[in-house]
Amino acid sequence: MTGENRPTAMEGARRLLIVDDDEDMLKLLAKMLGKHCQCETMLANSADEALALLEHTPPAVVLSDIRMPGMDGLRFFEQINHHVPAITTILMSGYGTIEMAVQVLKKGAYDFIEKPFDRDRITQTVSRALERTRLMRENERLQQMLHGQKVAVHGFIGSSAALRRTLARLGRVAASDVTVLIRGESGTGKELAAHALHAMSARAHNPMITVNCPALPEAILESELFGYRRGAFTGANQDKRGLFQEADGSTILLDEIADIPVSVQTKLLRVLQEKEIRPLGQNKTVQVDVRVLASTNQDLEAKMQVGQFREDLYHRLNVMSITMPTLEQMASDIIPLAQAFLEKFREESDRDQLEFSTVALSYLMRRKWPGNVRELRNAVQRAVLLCEGNEIGCNDFFDDEGGECLEPLTAAPTVWNDSMGYKEAKEQALAHFHDNYLSAILREHQGNITHAARASGLDRQALQRLLRRYGVQSSTFRS
Ligand SMILES: Nc1ncnc2c1ncn2[C@@H]1O[C@H](COP(=O)(O)OP(=O)(O)OP(=O)(O)O)[C@@H](O)[C@H]1O
Ligand SMILES: [Mg+2]
Repeated sequence: MTGENRPTAMEGARRLLIVDDDEDMLKLLAKMLGKHCQCETMLANSADEALALLEHTPPAVVLSDIRMPGMDGLRFFEQINHHVPAITTILMSGYGTIEMAVQVLKKGAYDFIEKPFDRDRITQTVSRALERTRLMRENERLQQMLHGQKVAVHGFIGSSAALRRTLARLGRVAASDVTVLIRGESGTGKELAAHALHAMSARAHNPMITVNCPALPEAILESELFGYRRGAFTGANQDKRGLFQEADGSTILLDEIADIPVSVQTKLLRVLQEKEIRPLGQNKTVQVDVRVLASTNQDLEAKMQVGQFREDLYHRLNVMSITMPTLEQMASDIIPLAQAFLEKFREESDRDQLEFSTVALSYLMRRKWPGNVRELRNAVQRAVLLCEGNEIGCNDFFDDEGGECLEPLTAAPTVWNDSMGYKEAKEQALAHFHDNYLSAILREHQGNITHAARASGLDRQALQRLLRRYGVQSSTFRS
């Protein structure tokens, strides 16, 4: 039987399956854990029933009694492990079953809880188990992505070497509390990276607070960040908690940090050093437990030189920095990204039939993207709106009125006419393909032939032969 909270489409991220032959116990646990662990519950009276449920709707955590009629907890655990990886199992043992519980622990169960149980202990154990499964699954997806499989991790689409390197670095620093400075050109996914860092950290169960620094005028930035006491200034009619206090126990993202005035920079330095803030108009400081992430697309070093950015704050923020790759560096992701955006926008506008023409794809590959992924996303969105038929052509990316190209094509897409012989047409198509492909792969690997060969699955000599044959020079891609 299923519990009162039926499974939803949340991929079982916070779904708990409780198995016990005692009906009252099931109801009690479902009510208590559903509320305190904020999870949805599924209930089963026996291991067999649980296994049937598991296959259909895999939960994140299984909490099961050890002694049950039919299949006991030990065999049940072996079956779960066999059928569903990345699941966390907790066993409940009553009098006389401790030995069995120890055996199950040895086989890899997460924990066992003795009956009669303590409410806090069981709640904490289940919460930790839910978190464990989440991290395990996230890690699995990250590994798949790092091995080149096309999956979306924390909203990131793509499998280029540049993006994989960045995601691997994000994964490595996510779990610690270290301050991270996320750098990169506009539209490269800095905010997405901040969300990913937060989601992969132990603070993920609390919402991340984002401060859009340039949007807040100097006069209110300080009071927004640190809060104020009633009477601190005219109009301060009551105490107000600042964003740092709101982010206590969680993460704060200072978006576009280069734009904050030097006066506020000084106070920020104190938070980073002392982990404490002082609301305006208050003498006492307040301790806060906040992880700070900051992002910028500006040249902080240049700002430092002219005294617009404090050097000590710069060093504090720069403990760990991550630079997001430009879309040019992720060239092999352009088409998968464009396809993903097309799927999203055509679904939103109810136009399932819409596809890119080959010419449109070639155009996307060849034009420059100074606004990076965001610009690509916007271009696809606009093309979906402009396109009248079922095939998006090159024209749909051009500015509507004047028919002016956003950025000139660097070369004409392949065209051939029927007077061309088969061999000639094929040669031209091949030349076009090789020019595109070889340029993209070399661009992605900054002209490094060994790396490009490895990524394309060719051996070095074969790649060099192709480069010579199609006149592509690796040196032009070296930075
Ligand atoms: N690899 C990616 N896969 C999918 N979507 C992406 C990727 N990178 C960026 N995006 C999307 O592109 C848009 C811009 O990303 P984001 O706002 O994180 O960039 P940013 O670097 O903070 O930009 P800005 O400097 O303009 O603030 C968002 O819609 C984001 O979801
Ligand atoms: Mg941003």
